Amino acid sequence: MINIGKLKKIKNNFPVLVAEKAIPKNICKNLISEISSSKSFDDIIMGGRSRINKGSKNFEIYLKNSEYSLKLFKKFNSKIFFKKIEKIFKSRFKENTWTNLYNPRSFNSKKFTLKRKVNSKELTKLLGDNYKNPILNLDIDFSVSKGGYRLRPHRDDVNRLYNFLIYLTDIPKKNGGSLTLYKKKYKKNIRKSFRRFPKGSELKIVKEFTPKQGTVIFFKSTPNSYHGVKRFKEFDCPKRFFIYGSYALNKPVIWSFKNNNYFPTIVPNNKRMLTSFHDSNYLLKKTS
Ligand SMILES: [Fe+2]
Repeated sequence: MINIGKLKKIKNNFPVLVAEKAIPKNICKNLISEISSSKSFDDIIMGGRSRINKGSKNFEIYLKNSEYSLKLFKKFNSKIFFKKIEKIFKSRFKENTWTNLYNPRSFNSKKFTLKRKVNSKELTKLLGDNYKNPILNLDIDFSVSKGGYRLRPHRDDVNRLYNFLIYLTDIPKKNGGSLTLYKKKYKKNIRKSFRRFPKGSELKIVKEFTPKQGTVIFFKSTPNSYHGVKRFKEFDCPKRFFIYGSYALNKPVIWSFKNNNYFPTIVPNNKRMLTSFHDSNYLLKKTS
């Protein structure tokens, strides 16, 4: 169903692995038809992305009626598959790379990151202040985007270790919707902080991926893993069908780079939002 043996390292400032044609065309087509036939979606975000999220009642109903999605879900929702991905990252990125300080003690296939709206105080409490012995889980959604969908440059939630994308449709370049990877314009030896939403003027584009049917992308959700999606213009092309997911912890990931440890701080905000909308910074903490 998915050939991760094809995963290749790309030149970038944070760890990314890409596999083209990792999922055969006929399976992509079946996955598209399953998402298209879904009677309902859990939410619509970012200017036109409809999602079916792990953890919702809708997701369970969807999987009952979707043979290929269920198969793919089961594959990803396992410790064995996670270990394979982790092993590939470890073998491809050896020196001077980002690592997570506290290894997960177990994998829980039933768990998922809450999709409840909270304010920053509630979120800080949810995340807690003890980062040791985290539990790992898979988060995944089956998505379809219409024209207008875009994502400004950002880094993902603080509890994510790895993120992945599976593209099910070929999108012509003229239609946008490309995944864009960024890096900070100015080099620094040791950075004291990584903001979740840096200004566009602080960043420069390193790489752009036009969605291609069957392409799978994995990246480490490191403090500097800035990415976004260029506005998708829907004309003379299919809708943008894709699967997005991550291996996440039940607490924040503490990231380490060359023995420098970075801890997250949630930026205060009284508004109730999904965790993925909250701002946070990764700050360097000196340890003796
Ligand atoms: Fe993201």
